[in-house]
Amino acid sequence: MVPLTTRNPVPGDIDTTRPNVARIYDYLLGGKDNFAVDREAAKLLLEASPDIAGIVRDNRSFIGRVVRYLAGEGGIRQFIDLGGGLPTQTNVHEMAQAVAPETRVVYVDNDPVVWSHGQALLAHGEQVAMVHADLREPAVVLGHPEVLGLIDLTRPVALVCASVLHFVPDSDEPHRIIAEYRDRLAPGSYLAISHGTTGTTDDDHQVVGGVTSVYRQASAQLHVRSVAGVQRFFDGFEMIEPGLTWINEWRPEPGVPAAGQPKSLLGGVGRKP
Ligand SMILES: C[S@@+](CC[C@H](N)C(=O)[O-])C[C@H]1O[C@@H](n2cnc3c(N)ncnc32)[C@H](O)[C@@H]1O
Repeated sequence: MVPLTTRNPVPGDIDTTRPNVARIYDYLLGGKDNFAVDREAAKLLLEASPDIAGIVRDNRSFIGRVVRYLAGEGGIRQFIDLGGGLPTQTNVHEMAQAVAPETRVVYVDNDPVVWSHGQALLAHGEQVAMVHADLREPAVVLGHPEVLGLIDLTRPVALVCASVLHFVPDSDEPHRIIAEYRDRLAPGSYLAISHGTTGTTDDDHQVVGGVTSVYRQASAQLHVRSVAGVQRFFDGFEMIEPGLTWINEWRPEPGVPAAGQPKSLLGGVGRKP
């Protein structure tokens, strides 16, 4: 595993006094890897945005459609899932390997709870790894021995950034960070993003304001972006149809209704020419 540094705290450093973004998300998805402080924050989120549990399920559905598209039509056999989160019922490697069993997946997360629970994923064989690293350091992530052991960077890779870039403030230059990944990945690689957005109506602003204020006390703060701000992550990529849309409108599958509201997170997929 990655050498443990101040940015990669050891699992013993788990802070149970502060709501944690990975564990709040786990709770909203119906998981058990969370503490009282996370459940309290989740309840406040539900007050601010009663649809939020549906939205996180829709986000997982979006990831599923994206991964099936990439492993299917896109022919991708290697995925790097940045901010992969706590293991859920259907993880990216399970989604991808259902299409192409030889697919290799590396999960990257900077959270010690995610890292320790993610070890269980290693039981799934030699095609899956869980790396404890910070996505804000592309050179560290892409130079990590476990990434290099599984991922051939001379061949196309899918970089999945689901519901994570909105935890990176502008002051950390997330667009520059994604551009660095882009430049280091082979032509034919893909970038997939889901991301919170500012909304347009007074109601949207009230919900976003309420949700943002809950995350103010959490392990990472929420920084939703405008449509243009999310689109800018795809600079240098060709957008795959239908472009950047609401996640529920990205290649919806018949007979699978949205769990949350129609307009929640933005989602899109781009291909590096
Ligand atoms: C809301 S969860 C999303 C999980 C999963 N990607 C999904 O969409 O279902 C966000 C995850 O990003 C991780 N995360 C936040 N900031 C990160 C960073 N700078 N580097 C790596 N992981 C990060 C959190 O620990 C958490 O597990």
